[in-house]
Amino acid sequence: MVQPTDLSVDGRLTIEVSPSAHSASDFAQDVREGLSAHPKRLPPKYFYDEAGSKLFEAISELPEYYVTRTELALLQRFVPEIAKCSDGNMAIVELGSGSSRKTRLLIEALIARQGFLHYFPVDISEAILMQSAKQLLKTYPELEITAHVAEYKAGLHRIAEESFEQKMVLFLGSNIGNFDTDGALDFLAQIRRELNRHDYLLLGTDMQKDVSILEAAYDDSQNVTAAFNLNILRHINRQLGGNFEVKNFSHLAFYNAEQSRIEMHLRSEKAQSVHIGKLDTTFQFGPGETIHTENSYKYSSAQVIEMCAQTGFHLARSWQDERGYFSLNLLSPL
Ligand code: AVJ
Repeated sequence: MVQPTDLSVDGRLTIEVSPSAHSASDFAQDVREGLSAHPKRLPPKYFYDEAGSKLFEAISELPEYYVTRTELALLQRFVPEIAKCSDGNMAIVELGSGSSRKTRLLIEALIARQGFLHYFPVDISEAILMQSAKQLLKTYPELEITAHVAEYKAGLHRIAEESFEQKMVLFLGSNIGNFDTDGALDFLAQIRRELNRHDYLLLGTDMQKDVSILEAAYDDSQNVTAAFNLNILRHINRQLGGNFEVKNFSHLAFYNAEQSRIEMHLRSEKAQSVHIGKLDTTFQFGPGETIHTENSYKYSSAQVIEMCAQTGFHLARSWQDERGYFSLNLLSPL
């Protein structure tokens, strides 16, 4: 456990770094496997080094990326109802907290109701976690934060060791959309196992909509999403001693209607070889060969209901914006 040195947060911040969060050997192993596969692939969690987390923040402000602002508006509107879930001492656990910008609304409402709040953010990027935790503590003297630098599953596991009177787990931003159908069900079931009778899960899901709107959101006119996608190669260069020539790859994003998902890929613009020092390996790329970097599943209301039913949850409330672009779902254990 690392104690922060910033005195302005005087004892209200605890940071724990999960042993696997920073493991260069896991990263190396995943890259070796992914680039040896046919077709090549890389896990999307490796987008989020410090630069990648900043690029995602920039994406969340793009005119085409309706996701963050639509969810924020839903939270603004319904946070009074969400806060009513608290019996007086409810903690918040957030998986993939990032900047915690949207969460501020709920933090404020719960502090108003309870006089105090213990917040447990989990994020894979230590830099963004530290920065947002300190900012929150400066704004809210009634807040205590225990932050976990970890992947979702390790963070959830670790937090399960705490004893809570009541908790609400937040899984926002349609982060669930990175899981395939079975993976999403497994993960929701895992969250369900960590919840007690009076706990809640607040789940944000991006909904199916016009392909043109979806594709613009993942291939914006300022090429921020392209930079975000390409940053995974820079991350490999920096951390694993790769020599990817990023300009020789291009960003691809399209909607796969059969699977109801946006897919992102990187395409090698020519035949080239890339050496990765830490792997002691050279990988060959054919002209036009792609690396699959992300899936982002889009849901129907019926699918959301079905996922809840299959994982031991009751969908207590579900809110959507007028256009039906995004949905905030309040789940409680069945
Ligand atoms: C953070 C996974 C929800 O899928 O919309 C944004 C990531 N990728 N633009 C998403 C992302 C490209 C985002 N999630």
